[in-house]
Amino acid sequence: MVSRIPSVDGAQVLDVATGTGLVARELTERGHRVIGIDQSEGMLARASTRRKGGGSLQLALGCAERLPFGSETFGAVTFTYLLRYVDEPASVLSELSRVLAPGGTLANLEFHVPPNPVWRAAWRVYTGVALPVAGAAISRDWYDVGRFLGPSIRDFYERHPLEEQLRMWREAGIVDLQVRLMSLGGGIVISGRKSG
Ligand SMILES: C[S@@+](CC[C@H](N)C(=O)[O-])C[C@H]1O[C@@H](n2cnc3c(N)ncnc32)[C@H](O)[C@@H]1O
Repeated sequence: MVSRIPSVDGAQVLDVATGTGLVARELTERGHRVIGIDQSEGMLARASTRRKGGGSLQLALGCAERLPFGSETFGAVTFTYLLRYVDEPASVLSELSRVLAPGGTLANLEFHVPPNPVWRAAWRVYTGVALPVAGAAISRDWYDVGRFLGPSIRDFYERHPLEEQLRMWREAGIVDLQVRLMSLGGGIVISGRKSG
């Protein structure tokens, strides 16, 4: 996903749902100036310990539904593992597009359910058994995370199949969409350019 973000002189990248800042750090290491925003103070506190790289990183507290930035402010906007957690993905996509300058790139990394039946069966075992067992070996909290992920991902694509999500991107004004499945279909990168 990060490799989809072109370097544009003077332009800033907004990383939404930046969490502990893994994506933001990767962007700064490629020389981008980045603002990472997240609704969780705890996650941002962890992200602040990751500041390094060739670019600069600022952190901000706020939610994706109402970004505290003016329209057409950023040269690129990235978001990772966000839309599964919001009530209205279409309106969040519109808000992400609002702060993006015309011609700028919107890029997303998310989990996905493998379309290939063999890999999908393996994915079911992995998310239904392996992840919870591995989580339980660490702590009760990681067991809960391990149990949560598979159903959360499946439910998201049942409610919003990929075709519907791509329609939401287009309705938010994002064109030239590129979709790449990764990790045997267990991950997906979607990116596009704001029209205008
Ligand atoms: C699984 S973490 C992903 C963190 C980061 N993007 C990464 O890949 O490492 C999901 C993050 O989304 C944030 N989040 C969820 N809903 C949000 C919202 N509506 N606005 C802003 N952040 C949100 C959570 O606080 C959490 O930090």
